[in-house]
Amino acid sequence: MKLLRLFAIFGVCLCRTVELDWNVGYLQVDRTGYFTRRAIGVNQQMPIPPVHIMQGDVLTINVHNSLDVPTSLHAHGLLYNGTSFMDGAGMVTQCGIPPGDNFTYTIYTHDQAGTFWIRGSYNGQNADGLRTALIVHEKQKPASYDEEELITLEDWYPLEFPTKMAIDDGPGSAYKMKPSYPFGLINGHDGNLTKTINFLPGKRYRFRVVSFATTMWFKFSLPGHTLHVIEVDGVNSEPFKVDGLDISPGQRYSVVVDAHNSSSYNYVYNCTMYANFVPRIAGLSPRIYLGKIEYSKSAPTKYFSSKCDEQLKWVDVVKLTPQNKQPLLPVDSQVKLASLRFNGTDNIPHSMLGDLPYASPLVPTLFSAFTMGKLALNSGIYGPQAEAHVLRHMEVVEIIIDNPIPMEHSLYLHGHKVQVVEFGPSGNATSYNRPVATLRRAGKWPMQQDTVFIPAFQYAKLRFCADNPGVWLFRCQAEVHLHMGMAITFVEAPDVLQKQQTLPQELSQMCLKQKIKASGNAAGNQGFDLSGLSVVRQVH
Ligand SMILES: *[C@@H]1O[C@H](CO)[C@@H](O)[C@H](O)[C@H]1NC(C)=O
Ligand SMILES: *[C@@H]1O[C@H](CO)[C@@H](O)[C@H](O)[C@H]1NC(C)=O
Ligand SMILES: *[C@@H]1O[C@H](CO)[C@@H](O)[C@H](O)[C@H]1NC(C)=O
Ligand SMILES: *[C@@H]1O[C@H](CO)[C@@H](O)[C@H](O)[C@H]1NC(C)=O
Ligand SMILES: *[C@@H]1O[C@H](CO)[C@@H](O)[C@H](O)[C@H]1NC(C)=O
Ligand SMILES: *[C@@H]1O[C@H](CO)[C@@H](O)[C@H](O)[C@H]1NC(C)=O
Ligand SMILES: *[C@@H]1O[C@H](CO)[C@@H](O)[C@H](O)[C@H]1NC(C)=O
Repeated sequence: MKLLRLFAIFGVCLCRTVELDWNVGYLQVDRTGYFTRRAIGVNQQMPIPPVHIMQGDVLTINVHNSLDVPTSLHAHGLLYNGTSFMDGAGMVTQCGIPPGDNFTYTIYTHDQAGTFWIRGSYNGQNADGLRTALIVHEKQKPASYDEEELITLEDWYPLEFPTKMAIDDGPGSAYKMKPSYPFGLINGHDGNLTKTINFLPGKRYRFRVVSFATTMWFKFSLPGHTLHVIEVDGVNSEPFKVDGLDISPGQRYSVVVDAHNSSSYNYVYNCTMYANFVPRIAGLSPRIYLGKIEYSKSAPTKYFSSKCDEQLKWVDVVKLTPQNKQPLLPVDSQVKLASLRFNGTDNIPHSMLGDLPYASPLVPTLFSAFTMGKLALNSGIYGPQAEAHVLRHMEVVEIIIDNPIPMEHSLYLHGHKVQVVEFGPSGNATSYNRPVATLRRAGKWPMQQDTVFIPAFQYAKLRFCADNPGVWLFRCQAEVHLHMGMAITFVEAPDVLQKQQTLPQELSQMCLKQKIKASGNAAGNQGFDLSGLSVVRQVH
């Protein structure tokens, strides 16, 4: 890691630059003790070491692509305010970095701080291991604590993502998607071989818990200790007492924990990987991983009789109060979405949030927004399957997502934190023997998240202000669901974007090198001529 200090001449940013050299390439790894497989790592390392920077820093990542396919990187939860073209979402804000090429990401933290992660954002490469934690340390701690522990959670599959996808959801898969039972990794290793965490009596610890999962949920608890939630997805909250965290793919939580005052016992922490839509099979699902909290080498371990999950208090986002006390935003417009499935004429099952399953356009949507002049304000130019919603600068949007099916989702919005306003019942839970959900509504200062857990048979209402010109993907964090089409894009204030930002030449060159057009509408044409744009293609 190289540190540089930048002194901006006109006094805007007196920030430190942290520079990383990342050679993204394949390697063979055994992460579970059961199988060796090809994975995508950085500088021949797996797990990729976590990145620690300070609030206000500028992170530059010099990427060299040693893969035989394109790649791109996204820092999950950072807002890319003023630099939407650095967001990394494949075929949304950039073409992939071609094999053998280099590209430098410049990522401003501005005033953001908290727990984030960096991941591949091209063709499911996140699922093949291209991911690590990004901790942006606060200039002032959001709560008092003595030490920090990082817990990263991963689901890890024997098959590479493109292979798995072809089996689960390829032509001729004939809707036979089978449940699979991945392994759980904690801090990059088999969940049960994780290092012991040492506690000193009387000290206070901050745990940062990050989920890199591509399908599975994790429950985190530390029986015998109380967790106080202080941060969710890079937004600080007033301390909120819980017994455990229920973490959907992509989410992050920080909790503070008071150590006991005596070292007469040791304890265990519990990371249980599960998904409600994966059948329960003893030993396979859920998978329970236990790690040691050690107060003293010689002390006995104290176990607690397992309570059933319903008796424990799990974190509930609508009950949290953000430290920033942002009041409930008054709504200007609504976007209504539904999580639905349909069987395509191509013999492939598709998922969607909007009217059609999302599919990558032939030109990255951001490039259309930059190059189509006044027409950039018209959603028609982005093509039907970009599911583009054009937003006016500074309008407050309420997204209503209806999820009437027996499937949980974890939806991630690039470029924003959303106010999590309300959850309520949807669909016919009773016909699936599920209880009908009760209404859950945030108070006067709704908590903000970037990755929201949408339970089965519930709707959710989320709000945000369109104060970040750019093109932002709103997607299911489950890689398989994204590839089945579960995404839409927000084209935010393209008029302001064209005035305030300039698309770097290097990014256009990257497309042209791969014979992808770098301007025009979704088909690379002028006006509303979308000829050449076919329906239902692979997303990146
Ligand atoms: C690309 O990056 C690699 C690895 O960091 C470096 O060796 C090479 O010189 C770079 N190539 C160019 C053209 O900058
Ligand atoms: C440890 O002792 C201090 C001082 O007596 C007390 O305030 C605190 O609540 C105790 N902590 C626990 C976890 O019992
Ligand atoms: C992890 O270890 C615990 C305690 O030995 C055991 O009950 C559990 O089944 C193990 N988990 C897995 C997934 O092997
Ligand atoms: C671990 O947590 C899971 C989920 O809350 C629970 O079902 C299981 O009983 C716990 N196991 C232990 C040993 O605490
Ligand atoms: C898709 O087809 C399969 C197999 O025929 C069927 O079980 C399923 O209900 C269909 N799904 C939808 C959404 O129509
Ligand atoms: C919901 O399920 C119940 C029980 O199976 C059934 O009686 C009812 O007709 C269903 N309602 C709808 C709207 O599908
Ligand atoms: C982006 O920056 C502008 C100008 O500082 C600010 O008004 C806006 O709230 C920021 N948007 C986000 C999402 O941080």
